[in-house]
Amino acid sequence: MVELVYIEHPISSHLLSHLRNKRTNYYNFRQSLDRLSYVLAVYLYSSLNKKEINLKTPLSPAKGVIITNKVVLVPILRAGVGLLKGFLDLFPEAIVSHIGIYREETTLKPVRYYFKYPRIKNKKSIYNIVLDPMIATGGSMIDTIQQLKNRGLKNIFVASLLCAPEGIKALSKAFPEKDFKIRIFTFSVDKNLNNKGYIVPGLGDAGDRYFGT
Ligand code: PRP
Ligand code: URA
Repeated sequence: MVELVYIEHPISSHLLSHLRNKRTNYYNFRQSLDRLSYVLAVYLYSSLNKKEINLKTPLSPAKGVIITNKVVLVPILRAGVGLLKGFLDLFPEAIVSHIGIYREETTLKPVRYYFKYPRIKNKKSIYNIVLDPMIATGGSMIDTIQQLKNRGLKNIFVASLLCAPEGIKALSKAFPEKDFKIRIFTFSVDKNLNNKGYIVPGLGDAGDRYFGT
């Protein structure tokens, strides 16, 4: 079952407008996307489990809080790498799994060429966060989540800048089960897809604009 969580913040609107603007060059695009990754990370990490601990400051005993979940970040290559910075800077203990997928140009179907996921025993405590700035047809995200589901993983979170309504619909259709929850954190669900599978108004090709290719 898919749940959409919209993030609204003046800073994210400001940075997203830089990304949407076709005049933004690749290094300013990269800088704005890196910054947006911190906003996404703060919101996504807000539901991590935590516990109280006893510690000592240089002055006295005190109570502290630590995160108890294991976090696995799953960036979808290439553009998902652009969201790693904030997630890793704020929680360096996270493990990074990679999945390589590109869309075949004519069919727009996802082609998976790489997947590496860590061996972890206690699957219940894992908080999986799939990173991809764009959900267009939804094909790449569906394939990624299916790989996680095949491994018996359940806590699935998605960080994405922009989605198309077609992609959200496809994800909801692919994962209707109530006991398999997917929470998608995004800044916007845009108008639609064009006939080449690009999100409109969108921001163009996220990977090309981030890497300058
Ligand atoms: C882009 C984007 C997503 C995918 C979304 O990747 O980063 O992974 O398209 O499209 P979908 O929802 O229709 O699957 P792309 O295929 O351009 O690969 P790249 O990042 O390697 O350029
Ligand atoms: N991938 C992108 O990078 N942009 C789109 O608009 C659609 C898919």
